[in-house]
Amino acid sequence: MPSAHELTIAAPDDWHLHLRDGDTLRAVLPFTARVFRRAIIMPNLDPPVTDVALCAAYRERILRAAPPGFEPLMTLYLTEQTRPGTIAGAAACGFVHGVKLYPKDTTTHSAAGVGDTGKISGVLEAMQRHDLPLLVHGEAAGAGIDPFDREKIFIERTLIPLRADFPELRIVLEHITTSDAADYIAGAGERSAATITPHHLLYSRNALFDGGLRPHRYCLPLPQREAHRRALAAAACSGAASFFLGTDSAPHARHDKESACGCAGVFNAPAALGIYAAIFEQAGALERLEAFASLNGPRFYRLPVNRERITLVREAEAVPRCVAAGGDEIVPLLGGGEVAWRVRR
Ligand code: NCD
Ligand code: ZN
Repeated sequence: MPSAHELTIAAPDDWHLHLRDGDTLRAVLPFTARVFRRAIIMPNLDPPVTDVALCAAYRERILRAAPPGFEPLMTLYLTEQTRPGTIAGAAACGFVHGVKLYPKDTTTHSAAGVGDTGKISGVLEAMQRHDLPLLVHGEAAGAGIDPFDREKIFIERTLIPLRADFPELRIVLEHITTSDAADYIAGAGERSAATITPHHLLYSRNALFDGGLRPHRYCLPLPQREAHRRALAAAACSGAASFFLGTDSAPHARHDKESACGCAGVFNAPAALGIYAAIFEQAGALERLEAFASLNGPRFYRLPVNRERITLVREAEAVPRCVAAGGDEIVPLLGGGEVAWRVRR
């Protein structure tokens, strides 16, 4: 058994990450690369990363900004214009590890996303044939839908039928927020999995309104009631193979967050691993952190577990108040505060 103050695990990976581009990429990537060995890189740039050539160029920009040893695992952005031939090329290139479905107009840079999944059935069929995972932003779009019901409705109306139509396709339901999603994934078989973020483990929706409006905690899908937060913590801490770490770290400039119409996305990279460790500690489940952070993701993506190991120690680590990116500032989750666990250097 590990001691309560120290834990050595295979080096973890982040299975859902927004790095952006340019100055922001260079500013945020070091926070991820200092603790995570690999990361699944989200393709929702503006314009989005819709083909293998754009993806190769983006990968090169990431590698130029990255310290040695960090490996970006790239994804393509699915649109209604994506062709099955693009999927074949992606599967063959060796650096594309998934294709991301954004339902149109649900989140940051989703305007080019998919309005009607019926229009992408040929592409999904190609993904199933080439065994390329589908990564899903699980929210139903529509002005009439209550924002807190979007994930549940997406699962009922879109994901369950899609799962039935493409039984061999590997599907990751990203950044789950509800007990409905956790229950669905737990029973959906080995080709279905979910990522869980640190902020959805840390906060219920109350935290958005804690003494006033908290724009730096605002993300999509929205955090839900405390009972849902507890269900997510139980799923993560269970060690079950279908749940793994994905931070959804999603930086936005301070002025875009502290705005009359603020952007969705939480920049959590500086605090993420410390938060996860604290959640597992609270649950008395530290011995299962390695499964969630370092083993389940590689197994699902069919990649080797990292050979390097890291040691987490139960010592406070300060989280920077803000991070400079070009002429902008980005405010991290728990910025100016601290996390209870850090990686021993
Ligand atoms: C993400 C972003 O800013 O790119 N925002 C968010 O609130 N999670 C997009 C996403 O993952 O939905
Ligand atoms: Zn995301």
